[in-house]
Amino acid sequence: MAGLAVNVDHVATVREARKIDIPDPVTAGAIVELAGADGVVVHLREDRRHIHDRDVRLLRETIKTKLILEMAATSEMIGIAIEIKPDLVTLVPEKHEELTTEGGLDLRLHEDMVSDAVQALQEGGIPVSIFVDPDPDQIKLAHRINADCVEIHTGIFCEAKTPKERSETFERIANSAKLAHKLKLGINAGHGLGYQSIKAFKGLSEIDEFSIGHSIIARAVLVGLDRAVRDMIALIKEL
Ligand code: PXP
Repeated sequence: MAGLAVNVDHVATVREARKIDIPDPVTAGAIVELAGADGVVVHLREDRRHIHDRDVRLLRETIKTKLILEMAATSEMIGIAIEIKPDLVTLVPEKHEELTTEGGLDLRLHEDMVSDAVQALQEGGIPVSIFVDPDPDQIKLAHRINADCVEIHTGIFCEAKTPKERSETFERIANSAKLAHKLKLGINAGHGLGYQSIKAFKGLSEIDEFSIGHSIIARAVLVGLDRAVRDMIALIKEL
């Protein structure tokens, strides 16, 4: 069975709507873990628009499963990661104007910069995943620069408007996962996944772990975080 890592950024988004100290993503991390998730994910953005440095530090102290830090491959973030030591860093592209991460890291454009970041983080004792589009060239480049893992971007599939687009984008994800498996990379998948779209992944056993945030936190607002996490785990169990 694939694992589930839950991104709690949007708990911090609600906190930042009032610039006070509730709800606390650190408390959310504990609830997510008690509900059976395999890990907690946070994205420390350069503008600190939701998650703050303090959140990452406290999650590091309290999370018993796995803390996954999403971040840009900048020297500031590499320094923070090496100090805090998450269990995995996922390198993502970051633009100030975006609402959320818009695409995978383009290793054709940024191979040297990302390769240096991978090396620095690994020397600091942290395994590294790279968030990439479902494209065989990107998977091969991730392997070439010695990443431990790839996270395959599922957004294009989740946003597909027609059955044809859905099947084409899913095939790209499946082929990328199979190639990454052959290259012995760890394989995560995420972005845009929800309680319906996750069902399409039935039988794609190459995926080690799903990384899901918005849909779980959105459901949690209505039914509670514990149940929202358990509902998703139940669906992943069926895949
Ligand atoms: N994976 C990566 C690399 C992301 O940047 C995000 C969004 O923070 C997610 C997964 C989770 O996406 P969503 O919130 O749409 O489930």
